[in-house]
Amino acid sequence: AIKAFLFDLDGVIVDTAIYHYQAWRRLANELGFDISEEFNERLKGVSRTDSLDIILAHGGLILSDEKKAELAAQKNKWYLDLVSRMTSDDILPGVATFFSQVRKAGLETALGSVSKNAPLILERIGMTQAFDAIIDGTKISKGKPDPEVFAKGAQELDRQPAECVVFEDAVAGVQAGKRAGMFVVGLGSPDVLTEADLIAPSLEALTVEEVLAKVG
Ligand code: G6P
Ligand code: MG
Repeated sequence: AIKAFLFDLDGVIVDTAIYHYQAWRRLANELGFDISEEFNERLKGVSRTDSLDIILAHGGLILSDEKKAELAAQKNKWYLDLVSRMTSDDILPGVATFFSQVRKAGLETALGSVSKNAPLILERIGMTQAFDAIIDGTKISKGKPDPEVFAKGAQELDRQPAECVVFEDAVAGVQAGKRAGMFVVGLGSPDVLTEADLIAPSLEALTVEEVLAKVG
């Protein structure tokens, strides 16, 4: 039976996915090229360094490790400028209701994000206490689509993969959840999140009861 829900952060709990995109786009523009929203789907859920590599390859650039570290730091500075203005008003629609249903159902919760900024964002939106376990980018060595982040979440809750449901908005995140052996709810477009077990536009469109019924 399902005992725990594991949530991605960016694009699931809070709409920071747009801030990541804006900061990466600004960086690409400064390097002399552009990245589209469609291209950005490839970056969602992918670590900072992997994202930079994908962007540089897209722009046909090969840079030194030193220069790459500098660019990654620059992107993060711009990203933090955007994030620093966030409050609990930035929590996505439906999240609060869904989390109260999760608690009523007696389920455990974990955060599974590869973002090193995840703890800061949870503090800003006042949701640190909403999670029984928090796995962020500082606790893992491999980003999504590697299953490590969700495997660690289950481990910290002392649960088996078959007892967990993952909520993800990213292609790489859905893959990570599947590779971890979990039921995955994709939040977004069915055209993009093809590998998810269940797809909805957002948490607002779902109830806990409905999710548990689909897992069967
Ligand atoms: C999440 C986001 C990605 C981001 C990654 C690393 O997975 O979806 O867009 O690149 O976290 O975030 P960080 O805050 O550590 O740069
Ligand atoms: Mg995400």
